[in-house]
Amino acid sequence: MSVTIIIGGQWGDEAKGKITDAISEHADMVIRPNGSTNAGHTVQIGDDVFKFHLVPAGILRPGCDCVIGAGVAIPPADLIQEIDELQARGIDTSRLYISDRANIIMPFHPLQDQLEEAQRGSHNIGTTLRGNGPAYADKAGRRGVRMADLLDESALVERLNLTIPEKNATLTTLYNQPPLDISELLEQFAAYGEKLAPRVIQAEVLVQDAIEAGKSIIVEGAQAAMLDIDYGTYPYVTSTSPTAAGVCQGAGIGPTQVTNVISVYKAYTTRVGGGPYPTELLDETGDLLRKRGVEYGTSTGRPRRTGWFDGVAARYTTRLNGVTHAAITKIDVLDTLAEIKICVGYELDGHTVRAPQAVADVYGRVKAIYETLPGWQEDTTTCTSYDEFPTNARRYIDRLEAVIGVPVVMLGVGPAREQLLWRKQVDFS
Ligand code: IMP
Repeated sequence: MSVTIIIGGQWGDEAKGKITDAISEHADMVIRPNGSTNAGHTVQIGDDVFKFHLVPAGILRPGCDCVIGAGVAIPPADLIQEIDELQARGIDTSRLYISDRANIIMPFHPLQDQLEEAQRGSHNIGTTLRGNGPAYADKAGRRGVRMADLLDESALVERLNLTIPEKNATLTTLYNQPPLDISELLEQFAAYGEKLAPRVIQAEVLVQDAIEAGKSIIVEGAQAAMLDIDYGTYPYVTSTSPTAAGVCQGAGIGPTQVTNVISVYKAYTTRVGGGPYPTELLDETGDLLRKRGVEYGTSTGRPRRTGWFDGVAARYTTRLNGVTHAAITKIDVLDTLAEIKICVGYELDGHTVRAPQAVADVYGRVKAIYETLPGWQEDTTTCTSYDEFPTNARRYIDRLEAVIGVPVVMLGVGPAREQLLWRKQVDFS
């Protein structure tokens, strides 16, 4: 029996789907605990590329139960489309379950997201515009509509009657938008409820039964620790806690039930949207990383910002999340470089600081202190074991391991399922 959490240790897009896919081979259950369609996890099997937004990547493993947990915010039409598309590709989705406590992203949430972003002007967050922030604000404000409400007409009527007049007041007076029609929403969302009803369950009970039965469980976190609402680069963050503790909450798992926390880091860094980024590369090397790493958003298609590996941020998130194992992905992206830098310290106004700073503008003034390592300038994409790794690539990984502070056990050298090597074999089942 084991409960393994997978989280992102940087600013997202660390190829967490690939790690989930690899270790879900023997898993009984994979849980998606947080976020919404702002996330995108890609898994490549042979020539088949699967892009997941809400459904856990474990759906590709026959016999594995997949759960969308209470901490996820769901736009039902998008979820139905994702399920239909998987089914059309021959994937069995009968084992996909949805928490009846998951909040719903309503049509006005993406609209509100856009209007709020426009109002922020040059201080915009660069959100994915999927309505994530407004939906979680309504959840915390206790104005949310939840999956269970879609299955119960009187509950849905009550929730909409409570929420929509307030939304309409904001939309019409603040943003000069037309009001929403409660009866239209009622009809539309009751229909989504009917379609999803067979999958909607008390997911936390299923999860706890699986733990009691000694099953092997993976929690597949979305986003990443540097985008955490408390510990990330606030306000340039997402609206959930993509930390190990936060994903426990979203999945319905207690901290003492967790066996392993795997944090996934790219061999360099990327981030999408605004916010401070000490190791950002605004030069040809940054362009090269974007091109070789195909750094464009899975959900939005936006070009990602690129930079060197930030050892200070990585160490910070490793400690905050009680990480037990690290995975380093996309090492092959660095294959052509003559020299590679690692940020090993931060300097702020002439002083050394140990961690990312709370105020975004202050963190924006931090200067990265680098260590330079020689590149390997050899192809790693065809390596089938760690022994085949070029010497300088091994030195780089050894150094990252020392900086991060936990064992680096898995290495990604390309998008395909087989391009994942074990550096230190661990049984996560
Ligand atoms: P939101 O989650 O759409 O509200 O966006 C808030 C911030 O989190 C923005 O900077 C987004 O680009 C970032 N973000 C949200 N989801 C992801 C993700 O899956 N990968 C990387 N960045 C993300």
